[in-house]
Amino acid sequence: MSNISTFPEDFLWGGAIAANQAEGAWNIGGKGPSVADAVAWKPKVSVKDYSAHMALSDENIADALSGRNDANYPKRRGIDFYHRYQEDLALFAEMGCKVLRVSIAWSRIFPTGEDAAPNEEGLTFYHDLFTEMRRLNIEPLVTLSHYEMPLILSEKYNGWVHRKVVDAFVRFSQVCFERYKGLVRYWLTFNEIDSIHRHPFTTAGIRKEKSAAGKAEQDIYQGLHHQFVASALVTRDCHAIIPGSQVGCMLTKLTTYPRTCKPEDVEATLKKNLENLFYADVQVFGEYPPLIKRDLARRNIHLEIQPGDLDILKSYTVDFVSFSYYMSMTESTDPEAERIPGNTILGVKNPYLAASEWGWQIDPQGLKISLLELYDRYQKPLFIVENGLGAKDEVVEGKVQDSYRIDYFRAHFEQVKAAIDEGVEVMGFTTWGAIDIISAGTSQMSKRYGFIYVDQDDEGKGSLARLKKDSFYWYQKVIASNGAQM
Ligand code: BG6
Repeated sequence: MSNISTFPEDFLWGGAIAANQAEGAWNIGGKGPSVADAVAWKPKVSVKDYSAHMALSDENIADALSGRNDANYPKRRGIDFYHRYQEDLALFAEMGCKVLRVSIAWSRIFPTGEDAAPNEEGLTFYHDLFTEMRRLNIEPLVTLSHYEMPLILSEKYNGWVHRKVVDAFVRFSQVCFERYKGLVRYWLTFNEIDSIHRHPFTTAGIRKEKSAAGKAEQDIYQGLHHQFVASALVTRDCHAIIPGSQVGCMLTKLTTYPRTCKPEDVEATLKKNLENLFYADVQVFGEYPPLIKRDLARRNIHLEIQPGDLDILKSYTVDFVSFSYYMSMTESTDPEAERIPGNTILGVKNPYLAASEWGWQIDPQGLKISLLELYDRYQKPLFIVENGLGAKDEVVEGKVQDSYRIDYFRAHFEQVKAAIDEGVEVMGFTTWGAIDIISAGTSQMSKRYGFIYVDQDDEGKGSLARLKKDSFYWYQKVIASNGAQM
């Protein structure tokens, strides 16, 4: 245990959740269905097969549009944060959280995405939520798009493939900025914007099967371009409506090492990392990197770029770079190399690392490497807005003794401290799922990340009572000592 803190005085320690995984109340208070409400729980599919878990059928869409089969769709119930947020915020405050990352469910504000007027009940819910956070001295960090666009927009336009969705999102964001300007200073535009390639439906409402033959990739890049433009426009509006506000991009940091020092492996790894960084590059530098442009042309992908788009990207870049980091991977050109799942991705196994029950390789030093790499590249403040260990917790005699989670965080916090020592500017750290919520990838409740246990199982049974885990008291000490006591 060290007693010296190098975390800055104003370091934002806290937690993170997303509306679609926590709120529940999916059809209450005027909320329209979102893409998340169509994602079914698949108990028979291996938890390591994320793509099968996220696969979607017409029946799933019909279920969400008609409100059928609630029991099969855990994200519709979440952990009932919608009704219990006061109790939950009190627990976050007790833990000492200085910040809480939440998202606004777009379809709670605009149920179809294009309604003539916003839904007042939805606006009031977030107004009350942010007001309560402020009362408790918890700074809101708000994501505008976290896997929860209105399902009706997705159906009508094949999601972000259509330009009209840019207008709808900009309008939604403007309404949020106007309503919450006195309450929210820190905003993120698109959660893990790069995930559009890995799960286009949840990220951008895009269903590949709706694309013309051979055009699915083209459509996904078009949707991505629209998100880039929307992100820039929203950054512009946020700065104009809320003076002093700060807007960040949000990347899944998929740090990849070469499996061997064979030059082929090194080149394949370099390309993988450049591809991952490209999404933040556009939002930080305000332009498409030349190698990516060339790559798209070689793959016969031609974006429809409207006059003015490139100026918009260049003019409204982000203030800070936020990212999620859970695991690292290796890359190899050997087709026989053993592959292992990570955060909605498959990579090559690293023999030096242990993995979680879901196969995600645990690599604290990879977080330091990521911080050094991102800071050197962007020279912008960084914000770790997701990190954590998904694990099965057991309640024994009213306690959850989750020393494995404490070990995981201690190791990661130590690496952040080391990176700060070496000169990296880090604004804060919001741990993922600081209270147990529904898993994004597998829709399980039993994949728990929280410091606060929620009594609910995968089938939705349980009292929903909240219980402080051992890690709750540990994190409380970490925050109180500003990272000096871990
Ligand atoms: C991130 C997402 O990729 O990973 C979160 O932004 C998600 O929404 C988190 O919950 C952990 O993934 P999972 O599948 O374990 O919930």
